[in-house]
Amino acid sequence: MGRYPDRRSASIPALWAVQERYGWCTPEGIRQAAAVMRVTPAYLESVASFYDLLHTSPVGTHRIEVCTNISCWMRGADRLLEAFQEAAGGDDANFYVTGFECLGACDIAPMASIDQRYYGPLEAAEAGVAIDQLRAGQEVLPDKALAKRGLAGDA
Ligand code: FES
Repeated sequence: MGRYPDRRSASIPALWAVQERYGWCTPEGIRQAAAVMRVTPAYLESVASFYDLLHTSPVGTHRIEVCTNISCWMRGADRLLEAFQEAAGGDDANFYVTGFECLGACDIAPMASIDQRYYGPLEAAEAGVAIDQLRAGQEVLPDKALAKRGLAGDA
């Protein structure tokens, strides 16, 4: 809260911390954060319910958001989303798979965020590989990880 002129500006980082701790923005976690921030739980609930990346109900251990906005859609995002949903097995509570509107990495379309890390460009066939790697506790698609790509201007 000390980073911001208004303590309410720390709402999203506080809710993100709650989500990291509990897996989603639980009522208890929201009450704890609200007590520390000296705001009402209802205020934090309203913030949490507004943002798609904050979850107000339980989600799986692994969160997969497949971008389906224009750049990714034109490069096969719908098929990629289907492939992730099929590979995750539909009812497998370990996986939360959803479409998402532009994750801001259009240059690697079609792409997905897997446990908050970006991967792309992805082929539909790689969805099953990624799910298997997550189940096995292995590194996910190392060749497609945005974090492993060089920076512009790198030799
Ligand atoms: S359209 Fe997919 S990341 Fe922007």
